[in-house]
Amino acid sequence: MSAIRKCLFPAAGYGTRFLPVTKAMPKEMLPIVNKPLIQYGVEEAARAGITDMAFVTGRGKRALEDHFDISYELEREIAGSERESLLAETRRLVRECHFSYTRQLEVRGLGHAILSGETLIGDKPFAVLLADDFCVTEDAGVLAQLAELYSEHNCSIVAVEEVPPAEISSYGIIDGEERSPGLYRVTDMVEKPDPADAPGNLAVIGRYVLTPDIFDILRRTPPGRNSEIQITDALKTQARKGRVLAWRFRGRRFDCGSIAGFMAANNFVWSNEA
Ligand code: UTP
Repeated sequence: MSAIRKCLFPAAGYGTRFLPVTKAMPKEMLPIVNKPLIQYGVEEAARAGITDMAFVTGRGKRALEDHFDISYELEREIAGSERESLLAETRRLVRECHFSYTRQLEVRGLGHAILSGETLIGDKPFAVLLADDFCVTEDAGVLAQLAELYSEHNCSIVAVEEVPPAEISSYGIIDGEERSPGLYRVTDMVEKPDPADAPGNLAVIGRYVLTPDIFDILRRTPPGRNSEIQITDALKTQARKGRVLAWRFRGRRFDCGSIAGFMAANNFVWSNEA
């Protein structure tokens, strides 16, 4: 059984790149064909053996709670019809997982969002999944890959991928030494560096396993880039003690926080399903 029982879903961002669609609707409810990004995320967490789904939301995000709830009228309406199967997976998640919610009162960065989730997580290691990073894998999902590594190494682990130079300034970039194929001991991290100053091209994507000491570190972490509390800065503190690994995950990621990535993900899933 996985040691990681809880997953935090930071979902309080404004999604300004998708306006106007995100004016009254959470970005995480955007669909890949007919399934919202957040459901893909919860399915990935469930496949990693996680049962507790903890959401950090904000104003205008109520659709997320409604999605992971029973919808009696709707379910009665489609009962016995062929459309019932369309809801089967959602209903299974609602039955088998526990969902909890808290709000990030001010949008002050991903590190601050994760700290806002402490009350839902407690003092055990936990996963973090950013639903706008949509990942497709052939075998184990990305969180399952991280959870397996956690059981061996017992420290924070981030998923990374190589990005082209033009994209380096959009990500947290790691420095580290490769200990075995695809697995790095992180020595340093920089948030959104200029490509010329970057320690490499391995970018952190929206999948993490974090040890709970991260909360105390986040509490002490001053605002960094963009005046936001950056998870990258807190991870750097753990990395200096040799307590962070990076895993070049098996699979493919689509950046669904951007319209181009979102369209590419939809085309990919649609052409593979059709
Ligand atoms: P992004 O910066 O990509 O998301 O944050 P955003 O702010 O919603 O999008 P744009 O840039 O305005 O279009 C990455 C993830 O971190 C969450 C977001 O919801 C997203 O899932 N986040 C970010 C928070 O929950 N709180 C924050 O303060 C910042």
